[in-house]
Amino acid sequence: MLISGTPTRTIWREDDAVVIIDQTRLPHEFVLRRLHTLVDAADAIALMRVRGAPLIGATAAYGLALSTLRDASDAGLQAAGEQLIATRPTAVNLRWAVQRVLSCLLALPVEQRLSAAWAEAAVICAEDVAQNQAIGQHGLSLLRALAEKKSGPVNILTHCNAGWLATVDWGTALAPIYAAQEAGMAVHVWVDETRPRNQGASLTAWELMQAGIAHHVIADNAGGHLMMHGLVDICIVGTDRTAANGDVANKIGTYLKALAAYDNGVPFYVAAPGPSIDFSLTDGGKIPIEQRDTDEVACIQGRDAAGQLVSVRLTPEGSPAANPAFDVTPARLVTGLITERGVCAANRAALAAMYPEWSAT
Ligand code: MRU
Repeated sequence: MLISGTPTRTIWREDDAVVIIDQTRLPHEFVLRRLHTLVDAADAIALMRVRGAPLIGATAAYGLALSTLRDASDAGLQAAGEQLIATRPTAVNLRWAVQRVLSCLLALPVEQRLSAAWAEAAVICAEDVAQNQAIGQHGLSLLRALAEKKSGPVNILTHCNAGWLATVDWGTALAPIYAAQEAGMAVHVWVDETRPRNQGASLTAWELMQAGIAHHVIADNAGGHLMMHGLVDICIVGTDRTAANGDVANKIGTYLKALAAYDNGVPFYVAAPGPSIDFSLTDGGKIPIEQRDTDEVACIQGRDAAGQLVSVRLTPEGSPAANPAFDVTPARLVTGLITERGVCAANRAALAAMYPEWSAT
């Protein structure tokens, strides 16, 4: 993606370090941060300096390379993998990337592991970009079909941020929107603010601004009203983990949007790259739901009139809060999954046909 006209990815290697965009500072400040150690990488994931399932996976892969710099032993690598996997429980890309890099490295002599770790992390990133580009093209077909049936822009509602900042590049749910823009199609995006961390208001809106794509940020509660009044043609969201039966874990609040879409006959699609699909889980009820710090609900971060980033309290001192970070949308509410291999129904048979090599394991 372009940042002020410069092609930029969300993560890259520089010598013996890894560079990320510190997403806790967006949209107000664009700050790059260098990761030098395994702990730097684990902290970046846990503290949400990087976030979004595919980017978490890519960061974990590079975290293993940083760890290999100091300790390439079997025990060292296995401990590093466990440390990374423990950072966040819901996004399955994290475990997928760690297991993939470990199985590559542990099969090699110790002296070959460092270069292999850097190489495997780079391949994971390259694959992510290619998968998201393919999702963009498959999703574009859906948008074109909608455009043929109406005049004016296609109105897309999205939740959280599943744009390029959530991946290495392009994004998952936003990839079709970027593809539509490249194809010269008129699109307009309703951006759920996505409390409590406001990934929509701070990250999706910033991305769309950078790309010059028409959008409005809306309160999380506005989507149902907009759908009821015919102002949403399609919902497209991302996923942190999709089970083998098509149940979709995504940022908290996704389920409510799927219910509203179902009630209003609005198609509800989930952009799901292969590494976000967990064929080891028969259904979404088994997906671990991250419970985050309740201060994320009680407080909100923003920029004050003097330009300083500040956090202010919203709730009465002493009011308890609860902060489940994800929910599971049942497959019956999902119109289809947009994968890098094509669009399929959200059910076991369709997913197994799309990914025969994984469903067989
Ligand atoms: O908690 P986060 O910010 O890491 O949340 C993940 C997400 O960005 C979303 O749930 C997204 O829709 C799926 S990842 C492309």
